[in-house]
Amino acid sequence: MGMSQDIAKVLVSEGDIRERIAALGKQISADYKGREPLFVGVLKGCFIFMADLVRACDIKCTVDFMVVSSYGAGTVSSGAVEIVKDLSQDIAGRDIIIVEDILDSGNTLSYLEKIMTARNPASIRIVTLMDKPERRTADVKADYVGFTIPDAFVVGYGLDFDQRYRNLPYIGVLKPEVYS
Ligand code: IMP
Ligand code: MG
Repeated sequence: MGMSQDIAKVLVSEGDIRERIAALGKQISADYKGREPLFVGVLKGCFIFMADLVRACDIKCTVDFMVVSSYGAGTVSSGAVEIVKDLSQDIAGRDIIIVEDILDSGNTLSYLEKIMTARNPASIRIVTLMDKPERRTADVKADYVGFTIPDAFVVGYGLDFDQRYRNLPYIGVLKPEVYS
């Protein structure tokens, strides 16, 4: 069976994602004019969003990635964040833009923000494709948000359920029977 049969509804279409990322890219390019930010992607969820976002930015920049794990195979955050792979460079004095797929409880980003701040970058900002503000428990805010969405578990465009559905080209909500 294909993937799309498991999707109850499309929450954000491919076209809407494309348009919103173009606008984010313009805004980030203007805000960082004359600087050379380091985009730090939080893998794995960021991989598609980040690929599109950096191509929407007309500035000199570099990229790096971290692998963190906070969820296991479930749909509810366990609260604990583990760095599976750290950055491959020193970030002291750099303008850091952390790139996340989705800001949910905020655990992951508040932890990453704390760790990165201790490494003395010139600045840190956060860009997230999606924000679920209703679910926030940690004190963290994104500087750039693609879409503010209601409290639902979403997949696609990099986001997974049990490592699957990352390759859906849009953001969708799974049918309930897929979880059980
Ligand atoms: P937080 O630490 O609770 O903010 O969760 C952040 C991470 O949880 C994201 O980077 C995602 O990997 C994952 N996550 C949160 N909500 C969803 C969702 O609706 N679908 C898929 N992954 C999610
Ligand atoms: Mg995930």
